[in-house]
Amino acid sequence: MTPPGFMAIAHRGASSYAPENTFAAFDLAIAMGARHIELDVHFSSDGHLVVIHDDAVNRTTDGAGPVTGHSLAALTALDAGAWFDPRFKGERIPTLGAVLERYKGRAHVHVEIKGHSAGLAQKTADLVRARGVAGQVTITSFQIAKLEETRAYAPELPTGWLVGQVSDASIAQARAMGLTQLCPRADTVTPALVSRLHAERFVVRAWGVATEDLMRQVVTAGADGMTVNFPDKLLAYLAAGPLRP
Ligand code: G3P
Ligand code: CA
Repeated sequence: MTPPGFMAIAHRGASSYAPENTFAAFDLAIAMGARHIELDVHFSSDGHLVVIHDDAVNRTTDGAGPVTGHSLAALTALDAGAWFDPRFKGERIPTLGAVLERYKGRAHVHVEIKGHSAGLAQKTADLVRARGVAGQVTITSFQIAKLEETRAYAPELPTGWLVGQVSDASIAQARAMGLTQLCPRADTVTPALVSRLHAERFVVRAWGVATEDLMRQVVTAGADGMTVNFPDKLLAYLAAGPLRP
């Protein structure tokens, strides 16, 4: 499922309003009208793909220690909601498989390979294929090696490279690798940059949108999408028609 138009991507779900990377945050994003969600994946100690941002569980759960030091059973026993607000007590760290199943046909999932473990790219692609959702997933990473592995192992999957600032070198490398998207930090997005990347046939998808001003700036620069913690505000802005003449 890849809806047409500007990609309003709920960053770790609607993470301004619900605990990031949980079903509560993803469900809320969908309820707000988002048709794209973003999430981060790591390996558990026993080789399962789990959805959590940090390398360690400390910030977003009631546990401690590295994600890769916990089994799936141990990770899913942690509370991943109460740190955000007591109302969300009982939220769990989801598996990538459960997320793909839950939102199949309802949202495009932008998977960021966040962990550094060997085999993450291949296991992610295996899971996407097994669930039959290749058409509704984009693989992204700051780690070019993970994107190289994805391109080699699963060339059918679209890929996006998260970068701070786009450079001549990053454009050349992305072109050589056949990446679909270049994903610059939002405060570097200008109309000139977007035109240049569109001329190179890249999809331009921004990240790091901290304010509504920056959100509007990315839209009016002509980008194709962005991750945002407050998808309701972006969707309302798009509905008001900023792109119409
Ligand atoms: O959209 C990409 C964005 O998620 C990258 O930053 O730290 O939130 O994973 P981070
Ligand atoms: Ca991310």
